[in-house]
Amino acid sequence: MRTTRRRFLQQMSWLTAATAARGAHTMQPAVSTAQLLDTRALAHFVDPLPIPSLAKPAGLRPSPADPALQVPYYGIVMRQFRAKVHRDVPPTTFWGYNASCPGPIIEARGGTPLLVEWANELPRQHFLPIDHTLHGAEADKPEVRTVVHLHGGRTGPESDGYPEDWFVFGQSATCFYPNQQEATSLFYHDHAMGITRLNAVAGLMGLYLIRDEFEDSLNLPKGAYEIPLVIFDRSFRPDGQLYYPVSGKPGAPWVSEYYGSAILVNGKIFPYHEVEPRKYRLRLLNSSNGSFYRLSFSADATVSSEALTFHQIGSEQGFLAAPVPMNLLIPGPGERADLIVDFSSHAGKEVFLRTDVTVVMQFRVSAKQTVDTSSLPTTLRPVPRTPESAAVHTRELTIADYQNRLGRSSVMLLNGAHWDMPVTEKPVQNSTEIWSFINLTDDSHPIHLHMVRFQLLDRRPFDLSVYQLTGKVVFIGPAESLSANELGWKDTVRVDPMTITRIIVKFEGFAGRYVWHCHMLEHEDNEMMRPYVIVPE
Ligand code: C2O
Ligand code: CU
Repeated sequence: MRTTRRRFLQQMSWLTAATAARGAHTMQPAVSTAQLLDTRALAHFVDPLPIPSLAKPAGLRPSPADPALQVPYYGIVMRQFRAKVHRDVPPTTFWGYNASCPGPIIEARGGTPLLVEWANELPRQHFLPIDHTLHGAEADKPEVRTVVHLHGGRTGPESDGYPEDWFVFGQSATCFYPNQQEATSLFYHDHAMGITRLNAVAGLMGLYLIRDEFEDSLNLPKGAYEIPLVIFDRSFRPDGQLYYPVSGKPGAPWVSEYYGSAILVNGKIFPYHEVEPRKYRLRLLNSSNGSFYRLSFSADATVSSEALTFHQIGSEQGFLAAPVPMNLLIPGPGERADLIVDFSSHAGKEVFLRTDVTVVMQFRVSAKQTVDTSSLPTTLRPVPRTPESAAVHTRELTIADYQNRLGRSSVMLLNGAHWDMPVTEKPVQNSTEIWSFINLTDDSHPIHLHMVRFQLLDRRPFDLSVYQLTGKVVFIGPAESLSANELGWKDTVRVDPMTITRIIVKFEGFAGRYVWHCHMLEHEDNEMMRPYVIVPE
């Protein structure tokens, strides 16, 4: 248990440049530091935090669900572009939606559908190392393929961005998003089979906010006082270009994890943002390929400084029942957090967002007092806990990592099955099930199910060797107590090593074919993704 715990913590606390470049537990070949930009040495807080633009509809179109109804229609184009990640780094080539990374924020109203036409105008050659031995990325496939998934969206199967529904340069796909769900922050990103990790590193991601009347009634900070924070890590070459490691194995460059040497917020390294001494709402998304972060706010830039209290008001699928006071947030890849941070007692000073190993960004709090009429409500939206008795079925699903003779991951499977094996998870529409994830690896995996929202039931340590010998689950301790910020509606959940993590899900919404997968994108691209089918009632 002890060594497992240590490795777990090491993974959780975002790695330093040196270990990331070496690939701390991926056994990547060493990269000499001369090949990489030393991002830690970059000047801090010289670039203002960019705020992604708001996407504007190009007009109205008839709704596919009801042709008598006209709904907003957006056209979003994927393009290659160059952007500066830092004042002192030469421009970096990215791929982005509307030529920006993160892409424009799409704002929707709950209950008001919209259409997005996603067009691919990317180059025909990829600039990151494709592994043609991975399923779906064979050499006979076009190099640059895209398909857009709205993560957390309750979307019909034809618009959900099935990984094999990719399209190439000059093509587009029009997706219908009904927005029949509670106010929250979703995100759109690429999901092309076998190259999702590369398209993500290239920059294909953006926020999608759903608002509703309930949210309006809460009087939360808004306008300039609501700030999107899209966080991801990247490594760079000295010329400013993105660096993505390769395995060193001829013809099979896939690596099992990607950790960058620098953490970017809205596309900048070590940015600053000027704020007033008042409450702010931060819409945080971890869109990293593989990194979990241990995030805190503090009054000085050192990583051991005292962590300030902030409140989390929402998780992936909506508001929590009540604000949760906390001083540490551990978002995994794909997870979102809706936060309220109060700068009022820091007038004229600075506040830092940091992890345990590096500062991430700076908030410069102005000295002039302002009137803050926004509120931090005492309660939010009720989150009725789904009783276990509501479940008609429990599925035990293993998460495993199969290693080769060198101890290197060669394939990662869910429930022992490859992507192209017959569908095994076939819940009935509107039924409730418990999915019990048995993690046989020594990493945490953020597990995501498309289309649904769920609740976390528990995480409980079990005896791995007994399980491997007999297939029987023997618990070796009580369930860990869940933090209050994990008791809301979620769509992505951290499944810790050597534990069984259980979620309870109602398959509400559409019937059809979806996917569930690990949101560490290197894992997802190498078989840690399975189709599942919601069978009509
Ligand atoms: Cu955020 Cu299937 O993905
Ligand atoms: Cu994983």
